[in-house]
Amino acid sequence: MLDKNRLEKYNQEHLYEYEKLMSNNEKESLDNKVKQLDLESIQNLYQDLYVNRKSIEDVSSVSEVKYEVKSKLTDEERYTYEQKGYEAIRNGEFAVLLMAGGQGTRLGYKGPKGSFEIEGVSLFELQARQLINLKEQTGHTINWYIMTSDINHEATLEYFKQHNYFEYDANHIHFFKQANMVALGEDGKLVLDRDGHIMETPNGNGGVFKSLKDAGYLDKMEKDHVQYIFLNNIDNVLVKVLDPLFAGYTVSNNRDVTSKTIQPREGESVGRLVNIDCKDTVLEYSELNPEVANDFDNANIGIHAFKLAFIKSAVDRELPYHLAIKKLKQLDEDFGVVERPTLKFELFYFDIFKYGTSFITLQVPREEEFSPLKNKEGKDSVETATEDLKRMGLI
Ligand code: UD1
Repeated sequence: MLDKNRLEKYNQEHLYEYEKLMSNNEKESLDNKVKQLDLESIQNLYQDLYVNRKSIEDVSSVSEVKYEVKSKLTDEERYTYEQKGYEAIRNGEFAVLLMAGGQGTRLGYKGPKGSFEIEGVSLFELQARQLINLKEQTGHTINWYIMTSDINHEATLEYFKQHNYFEYDANHIHFFKQANMVALGEDGKLVLDRDGHIMETPNGNGGVFKSLKDAGYLDKMEKDHVQYIFLNNIDNVLVKVLDPLFAGYTVSNNRDVTSKTIQPREGESVGRLVNIDCKDTVLEYSELNPEVANDFDNANIGIHAFKLAFIKSAVDRELPYHLAIKKLKQLDEDFGVVERPTLKFELFYFDIFKYGTSFITLQVPREEEFSPLKNKEGKDSVETATEDLKRMGLI
């Protein structure tokens, strides 16, 4: 039985009403779940992020990051970085970490986003091919860590199996799941999903390091003598996965965080990499006043290399949640299915930067390295991704 007083204290008394309509099994499962939840923290999050929400207005203490521009590197510098990169990769200094736990909602695609195919080639395959090339060039098989979530884990595993791991060595591909977080209605109440369970959604890509640790993979990396984790998004069809130049740039500078950026376009939906109080940080586009965003020269494209020692030291430290509002199907008061705006709480991976002490950024040409597949049509769409892949001779 649910504890009515506890529910009332935290604005969740509606669950008591729901419970009356449930079978014994359903009641027990609801009760167990609710007991595990920290209802006070959930209400605090609701107050802080929704009721008192504010966008980032005051940017007086924000400055441009220092950055180097790849096209301005001399041939000699490029050569030196590339050679260093190959050497580090050959020595097993890098692991590759792919974040693929998100939903392809804007793309209107039901399966894991990585399984989306453009002219028969999936986003996963585009990335796997590059790791295969690196294996051929260096003789070293890089460990590939892939984060999934409850919504796509099984389907992702199945897709890799069906495609024989794109001929990569399956023993070097490690899947792990990110965690979930409860969702709330706009009234701050917990929501029931269509199966009558408390609704939870993936906790954002910021769960990546903690989930990597919980799966035992930070320890594995250490045992493998990895020095750096290269991280990237699933949906940039032009991503250069651990390109030797960037690997060499990382090793030569040996910072906690090495980032690749591009020059943003006006009003573009990309985070801005900036510096606040001597630390690099990303101001996310969804939280930033567009006029302010246009003042900065570096867009986050989700490509970084982290020192493993830094990640190990920061992985258990707290990260803030961010709010996203999405229309999601759920049960209404009469147990009918409705679609309502729902509050999702997400962690962002770049919030871990604040625990780092040294940073460096390389700005690269958009036309060679960034073409995200976000939408069905228009900007950053199947059409633009296809054109860019063809232009670069990748399909
Ligand atoms: C992201 C960046 C943004 C950047 C843009 C470039 C974040 C929070 N924002 O925005 O600064 O300019 O990419 O394209 O990263 N993911 C998970 N689990 C989740 C949510 C997302 O693994 O719960 C993964 C996605 O699969 C994807 C990556 O994280 O690989 C980025 O997530 P997405 O939702 O596409 O972020 P954007 O809003 O596009």
